[in-house]
Amino acid sequence: MKPFLKWLGNKYAIIERIKATLPVGNRLIEPFVGSGSVFLNTDYQDYLLADINGDLIDLFTTVKEEGDSFIQYTKSFFQPEKNNAESYYKLRERFNSTKDNRLKSAIFLYLNKHGFNGLFRYNSKGKFNVAFGSYTKPYFPEEELKNFYNKAQTATFITSNFIETMEKAVPGDIIYCDPPYVALSDTANFTGYNASTFGEKEQNILVEIAEDLSKKGIPIIISNQDTAYTKKAYKKAEIIRFDVQRFISCNAATRNKVGEVIAVFK
Ligand SMILES: C[S@@+](CC[C@H](N)C(=O)[O-])C[C@H]1O[C@@H](n2cnc3c(N)ncnc32)[C@H](O)[C@@H]1O
Repeated sequence: MKPFLKWLGNKYAIIERIKATLPVGNRLIEPFVGSGSVFLNTDYQDYLLADINGDLIDLFTTVKEEGDSFIQYTKSFFQPEKNNAESYYKLRERFNSTKDNRLKSAIFLYLNKHGFNGLFRYNSKGKFNVAFGSYTKPYFPEEELKNFYNKAQTATFITSNFIETMEKAVPGDIIYCDPPYVALSDTANFTGYNASTFGEKEQNILVEIAEDLSKKGIPIIISNQDTAYTKKAYKKAEIIRFDVQRFISCNAATRNKVGEVIAVFK
C-alpha cells in the first residue's frame, strides 16, 4: 500500500528489504513514522506510531477518526482554481494561523501535494514555509487515504520525541526506527523536517536506547545512510547494506546512488 503523503526519506521503495529484517511480534512501534510506509505494509496486531511533527499526527488522527467525511472535505481543496500561487499562499497563511484541527489537517494534505517537492519545513517560529510547487495537476490520493483509514483502526498515533516513545516499549514489541539521515558532511546537515535538528547527539542517544532495549529482549531495527558514522555507531548490531537510487534533484545528472544501511539490534 502506498502512503498518501509525499515524504522526505520515505521507505516505500525499499519496503521489502525492511520487511525482511522485521521479526514477528505483537506490536510494531515506529518512533519516526513519517508517511507510514512501514506501518502500511506490515501485518502486526497493533501499532504505536509517533512523530515529532504534531501536524502530521493530527492529520493521521483525523483520517482515522473521520474516514470518508474528512476525505471528501479535503478533496474540495484539490480544485484547479486552487492550484495557483495566490491560493497556495493564502492557504499556507491559514494553515499557520488556524486553531481548527480539521481545517488544518485538510490544508496539510493540500500543502503536501501543491508545495515544492512535498517538503515539510518550518521556520524558527514554527511556521510552515515551503514555496508553491507549480505542478500541473496535483494528485488527490483518495484510494490511499481509504486504505490508510482502514489500516489505522489498529493504530495509536502520538506526537512525541523518539526518546519518550521508546520508553513505552514492553516485551513482545518490535521497534522500527527511521530517523532523519546522518549528514554526509558538516556542510550537509540539513535534514529538512522542522526547526529542531536531529544531529549526532540524537543519533548517539538512539543507539544507546537500542542497545539497552535489545538487552531486555526488545528488538530494534534502524534504517540510515551508510556512512563512516553509522559503521562505528552500529557496531553491536547485525548490519545489512545495499544501494538505493536517490532522486536528489529532477536533473538526471545529479541522481545519486547512496548506500543504505539497516541495523538490527536483538
Ligand atoms: C526519514 S523520516 C521517516 C520516513 C518514514 N519511514 C516513511 O516511510 O515515510 C523521519 C521522520 O522523523 C521525524 N523526526 C525528526 N526528529 C524527530 C524526533 N526527535 N523524534 C521523533 N520524530 C522525529 C520527522 O518528522 C520525520 O517524519
